Amino acid sequence: MAPVTQLLEVTGLSKRFRGLRAVDDVSFGMAKGELFGIIGPNGAGKTTLFNLITGTLSPTAGEIRFRGDAITGLKPDAVARRGIVRTFQATTIFRDASVRDNVRRAYLLRTLHQPARLTVYRAELQAADAEAGEILELLELDRVSAQYARELPYGSQKLLGVAMALATRPRLLLMDEPAAGLNPSETRALAALFQRLRGRGIDIVLVEHDVRLVMSVCDRILVLNYGRAIALGRPDEIRTDPQVIEAYLGGADDIA
Ligand SMILES: Nc1ncnc2c1ncn2[C@@H]1O[C@H](COP(=O)(O)OP(=O)(O)OP(=O)(O)O)[C@@H](O)[C@H]1O
Ligand SMILES: [Mg+2]
Repeated sequence: MAPVTQLLEVTGLSKRFRGLRAVDDVSFGMAKGELFGIIGPNGAGKTTLFNLITGTLSPTAGEIRFRGDAITGLKPDAVARRGIVRTFQATTIFRDASVRDNVRRAYLLRTLHQPARLTVYRAELQAADAEAGEILELLELDRVSAQYARELPYGSQKLLGVAMALATRPRLLLMDEPAAGLNPSETRALAALFQRLRGRGIDIVLVEHDVRLVMSVCDRILVLNYGRAIALGRPDEIRTDPQVIEAYLGGADDIA
């Protein structure tokens, strides 16, 4: 049988900032269809790992492969064109545009990049509008689609960041603390959203401090501590792993 190609494969990945090993020889593979979680105490290297995957930072050592191809060291826009996209932050939304316009703009960003050009054709605008409508419905933002982005409550602005990432048509969506600052009902809506995205064939890597959420939605979880991968497994394996318990008991975080 031919070997199964991993969707994302990280091998011996390291990033040093001067003397600090922010990500230290991390390896893992993620299969298509998997909802993959990454947890770890503050400063464990989670965001740095995302920055390495998206090309925002280049690694000191190691390799990243996506759908079988090496993407190590590619620029962020080249990584995005291959379909790895992170959610937009509340700070990168267009505050003075409507919610719908934000999503349309994100859709057109990708269109205008391949190849780089300045013209948008009518058919593309229509496609952007149709796609924006569908995505806003999916995220239950359709009722506020005409409002200015700045008028939305914080939780909805974060969801808009997810909507914009989706509009760029990702294969793999990286989410860094999507539940931070959300209230319990928004967090439940987010968990339901993961399942809906899955149904659309979009894979997700979730970095989250809300361990309970990660445990309830992820198939497998990677645990980082001081840049090192200390555990990788299903939620029930992670919950009872002595090294994981120790890493969490040592800090302010609590393992669910
Ligand atoms: N650009 C940088 N220059 C120097 N050190 C950095 C830089 N970015 C991150 N670090 C350091 O690398 C380590 C890992 O940081 P990182 O932000 O990846 O952690 P994290 O797991 O995302 O933490 P948190 O849960 O608080 O978001 C920390 O010690 C951090 O201070
Ligand atoms: Mg972080």
